[in-house]
Amino acid sequence: TQQRITVIRGDGIGPDIVDAAIQILDKAGCDFAYDYADAGLVALEKHGELLPQETLDLIASNKVTLKGPLTTPVGEGFTSINVSLRKKFQLYANVRPVLSFKGTKARYEDIDIITIRENTEGMYSGLGQVVSADGNEAEAMSRITREGAERIVTFAYELAVREGRKKITAVHKANILKSTSGLFLKVAREVAQRYPQIESTEMIVDNTCMQLVMNPHQFDVIVTTNLFGDIISDLCAGLVGGLGMAPGANIGKDCAIFEAVHGSAPDIAGKNLANPTSVILASIQMLDYLGHPDKAEKIRRAIKEVIESGDRTTRDLGGTHGTTDFTQAVLERL
Ligand code: NAI
Ligand code: MG
Repeated sequence: TQQRITVIRGDGIGPDIVDAAIQILDKAGCDFAYDYADAGLVALEKHGELLPQETLDLIASNKVTLKGPLTTPVGEGFTSINVSLRKKFQLYANVRPVLSFKGTKARYEDIDIITIRENTEGMYSGLGQVVSADGNEAEAMSRITREGAERIVTFAYELAVREGRKKITAVHKANILKSTSGLFLKVAREVAQRYPQIESTEMIVDNTCMQLVMNPHQFDVIVTTNLFGDIISDLCAGLVGGLGMAPGANIGKDCAIFEAVHGSAPDIAGKNLANPTSVILASIQMLDYLGHPDKAEKIRRAIKEVIESGDRTTRDLGGTHGTTDFTQAVLERL
């Protein structure tokens, strides 16, 4: 039977880059049926809520979603839609690979790092959010569980084994955050013992940031908690030419959402300036997940050819073209 995919076009640059990805999937010969659903500001305007029930139902029934970035209004009592989705569907693993392409303005070549971010707990647990009556004190709770730490670290090792990766670095701050990061590190060490074929290292998060900028080639797979993974994955995107190059897969036991690492980019929205590579690479992750490695490879090759030859690339990569020209160049390669 035909695979149905839920598509959330998203806010800001979302519709432009998601539409580009769908055109490319179709051109590559994928026979998917797409069910469009609203979330974010679009949904708030149309349905009066950020995450309508019909959208949740479609995500659950199709099990695979391709999603554009969503704007969460700041300070209006809304909890982040992304955080809600990840928790609701227990999408505990956020897989964020970065890979160098020649022809970008990136400082390095041959970067190939996967950040695996725990996606449901830690500093983004949403627990214990309190602001005092006078507004002068604020608290939030970080929560790490053995179960949560074990499933993300095991996920990272299983991915490493499956994809032939050599080394895993567990990133933490156990020296200061003794209880939470301490538990994460303890569990990471235990899981590492079960995988002697993979080199296991650990690194404190602040040093990791410095090392990523100074000597990024030492990294292969990074596994870490929610907040650190959020920050480190944007840093990694910066190593390969920026957020326009960084995809992410949110993976749970029976459901997955594929998206870009970046947000809705209000500064360039509606100007045909966004680099759609992030969401196109996310759709490649989706093809791998669905068991279509040949089509994934075909699109990967087309993207690589366009970026490396500088044919109609976007401004963030040093080119002079827009989203639609870039997409056209990829479509022609396909
Ligand atoms: P952002 O990630 O949207 O943008 C950061 C910078 O990167 C901007 O200068 C932007 O122009 C640039 N950029 C991002 N994607 C690009 C692309 N594809 N091509 C070229 N340049 C690109 O971060 P910002 O501005 O802090 O957040 C904007 C909104 O996005 C906020 O409402 C935030 O809550 C939301 N957000 C949503 C996410 C999601 O849906 N997964 C993730 C991160 C933020
Ligand atoms: Mg982020």
